[in-house]
Amino acid sequence: MSFSSVISVQFVCLGNICRSPLAEGILKHVTRERGLESQFLIASSGTGAWHVGQAPDSRMQRTALIHGVDISRQRARHFKRSDLDAFDHILAMDKSNLRNILRHSPHEEYENKVRLFRNYDPEPGDYEVPDPYYGGDQGFETVFSIVERTCRQFLDQILD
Ligand code: 4NP
Repeated sequence: MSFSSVISVQFVCLGNICRSPLAEGILKHVTRERGLESQFLIASSGTGAWHVGQAPDSRMQRTALIHGVDISRQRARHFKRSDLDAFDHILAMDKSNLRNILRHSPHEEYENKVRLFRNYDPEPGDYEVPDPYYGGDQGFETVFSIVERTCRQFLDQILD
């Protein structure tokens, strides 16, 4: 497989310790399940820099692992302006993150590749993945189910 056929995907949330690292871990897991791993470059980042270098929130790690997804080795990074050129798909977890990403450079080319992740959700609700950081365990479960079904739908749709 040549390098040019690799599809690059970056998920973006606020802290890069809950929602977007989960999406990174689930999409990696699903592409591995389907034998498509080598065709994808999958990453995540946060629009805020407070947690750079940290492992995902322990509650998010625990919820993911209950469902067979290990995100423990991922480390938080800060979204960079150059990511806008480097990635094919930049998927924001909520509208505020989408605005922050496009604030870097509001060009049409970027507006086409930067999208709300839940555009791909078969049950999109308000198109935002709720931030579970300040809530209880149930919030992490809810985030897992939203992110899992949306990752599967995203993969089906881009491979279609
Ligand atoms: P995330 O959740 O954006 O899904 O990683 C958050 C993590 C940390 C903070 C906010 C949201 N924080 O304010 O530190």
